[in-house]
Amino acid sequence: MNGQSLTHLFFQHFGNQEVAPLLFFAPGRVNLIGEHTDYNGGFVLPCALQYGTYLAIRPIDDQVCRFASTNMEFKTEIRLTGSLTKRENQWVNYPLGVIEQFLQRNIHPGGIELLFSGDIPNNAGLSSSASIEMVTAYALNTLTRSDIPMTDLIKLAQKAENQFVGVNCGIMDQFAVGMGEKNHAIFLNCNTLEYKMVPFILKGISMVIANTNKKRGLADSKYNERVAECQTAVDNLSKLFEIRQLSDISFMQFYKIQDQVADEVIRRRARHVISENQRVLNAVSSLLNNNIMEFGALMNASHESLRDNYEVTGFELDTLVEEAQKISGVIGSRMTGAGFGGCTVTLVRDEAVGRFIEEAGTGYREKTGLTADFYVAEVSDGVRLVSSGK
Ligand code: GLA
Repeated sequence: MNGQSLTHLFFQHFGNQEVAPLLFFAPGRVNLIGEHTDYNGGFVLPCALQYGTYLAIRPIDDQVCRFASTNMEFKTEIRLTGSLTKRENQWVNYPLGVIEQFLQRNIHPGGIELLFSGDIPNNAGLSSSASIEMVTAYALNTLTRSDIPMTDLIKLAQKAENQFVGVNCGIMDQFAVGMGEKNHAIFLNCNTLEYKMVPFILKGISMVIANTNKKRGLADSKYNERVAECQTAVDNLSKLFEIRQLSDISFMQFYKIQDQVADEVIRRRARHVISENQRVLNAVSSLLNNNIMEFGALMNASHESLRDNYEVTGFELDTLVEEAQKISGVIGSRMTGAGFGGCTVTLVRDEAVGRFIEEAGTGYREKTGLTADFYVAEVSDGVRLVSSGK
């Protein structure tokens, strides 16, 4: 979608061609490694994608918010008086949750018209929700001249998802969408929010995202269940160590006392988080040392742990990863995002990309009956203003 056509569609939806909307863009993200570590205060290594959400937005005199999307037949008008209520199963909860956060800070956006247009596959684990939240937060910050710093906008968008949408997600997605930088992965400590940009330029290697197209039913409730299980692990371990979160203990420490966590499932959940945290550190070193084979091996190990210890992969993701790992020229492959369906991320030598898509696609279809979609990903910049109207 280019700016001109979005503006054109905006006028079709809302009329009044006298006042052009402002255009904003927020990317989706892919996480290279460090899965389900963020809400445990651990490390992650995501990057922003070329795909994302455009938002055309304009202030109006009426005290209402008018929402529309080019992705589906949807139009709604909401008055910003009293408290905002969640709508049943609607994407509009993401921008609404962000607006509510602004209202809680006594920043009233006034009347606005908003047209969203996204090219991230929905519900694929590439953070289409964080992308909608961040593009809304960034646009409202600009429109209301609030000067909220980026890290606070990121926290505000996360709160919108936690409190309004009801998913107890960590901060990784909003952070990657807000801070993304072309050709860099973000090495983030989710406990302190300290971060380093790690150059991620793959000479002769492509990053391919594959969507399982498996419906992610119950993903949100399963996600919240994992968050609760990690808290149980902390409660158990804090009898032995002074810890507040799973990232407070090293894998060596955990290894020695893991038997003290009586429940076998909880023990495996903790083992995943604590070992994954170490894998992120190793992955960053291997990138900095240009050791891409080691990086790929860590991706494979991450998937294995998400499958066996954390149990968030499932037949479709496992099959797609197994099919990928069989192919020569594939350096590493794993699920990315929350799991329970969604996407895999695979590093493949350029000359093997065509063969990978063909062979992994066929193997996957034969075993699951589903057709995967493949995208060659580019690492892009974070949320931004694209055009400030006429
Ligand atoms: C989702 C959440 C993130 C993170 C990942 C798993 O994308 O929104 O906060 O927990 O799952 O790593």
